[in-house]
Amino acid sequence: MGQNYIIHTEEEIRRIRVAASMTAQARDRIAENVHPGMTTFDLDEIAGEIIRSMGGVPTFLNYCGYPGNICISVNDEVVHGIRSRTRFILEGDIVSVDVGVTFDGAVGDCAKTVYAGKGPVPEDIQRLLSETERALEEGIKAAHRGGHVRDISAAVEKVANAAKLGIVREYVGHGCGIRLHEPPDVPNFTLLRKGPELQSGMVLCVEPMLNLGTHKVYVEPDGWTVRTKDGAPSAHFEHMILITENGTEVLTRV
Ligand code: MF3
Ligand code: CO
Repeated sequence: MGQNYIIHTEEEIRRIRVAASMTAQARDRIAENVHPGMTTFDLDEIAGEIIRSMGGVPTFLNYCGYPGNICISVNDEVVHGIRSRTRFILEGDIVSVDVGVTFDGAVGDCAKTVYAGKGPVPEDIQRLLSETERALEEGIKAAHRGGHVRDISAAVEKVANAAKLGIVREYVGHGCGIRLHEPPDVPNFTLLRKGPELQSGMVLCVEPMLNLGTHKVYVEPDGWTVRTKDGAPSAHFEHMILITENGTEVLTRV
């Protein structure tokens, strides 16, 4: 069996902090550029410019052949949506921007979902967005050195279940830092296994993907775009956290 978690060195953590902070700034600048009338191709171009203007490289571009600077997932698209010259963002859409930045040999990864339009935000959409973000925050709060990965999963699951949102099972959070995807998995639901113990120097991406309908999803023929089976909208929020001796730090807040 391979390694089931990674403890980063102080030197790695210094670089991971920088990459994560750049990613957080890029995520917010990209999200501010979401406007009805633009295509997801336009948004992806802007994202590439923002990331490169900071001196970073878009991590996702060409990752396993991924054809875009960032992932842009609209409405019933859950994650891994690909830029398209014919996909216009419309008033009332929700748009997830999932951003990876590589800098100085380290990787940042985070995401948020925003409402495109002038509002008022429909009530069910508001619940989807705020409860998914709350699930992320509760997951982070549950992450303590000496605890286990399952503590995070349980906290996310509790919020999702209380809000009656479907929890995507096929895609999960993950270790991160030097490579985009490192062990361990960080599921948004609980299993019998506790998962690895949370230890100082572990960097984890916590990323609930919650649906207004059922948990069921499928992958489009493009091989990337994940959509809900029932066509209901889906939200995605992601932060990168560092476990330390003195508590848990969120590396992707601005
Ligand atoms: N942020 C995503 C993740 O956490 C997505 C990247 S998949 C890619 O896994 F292929 F687009 F890079
Ligand atoms: Co991720």
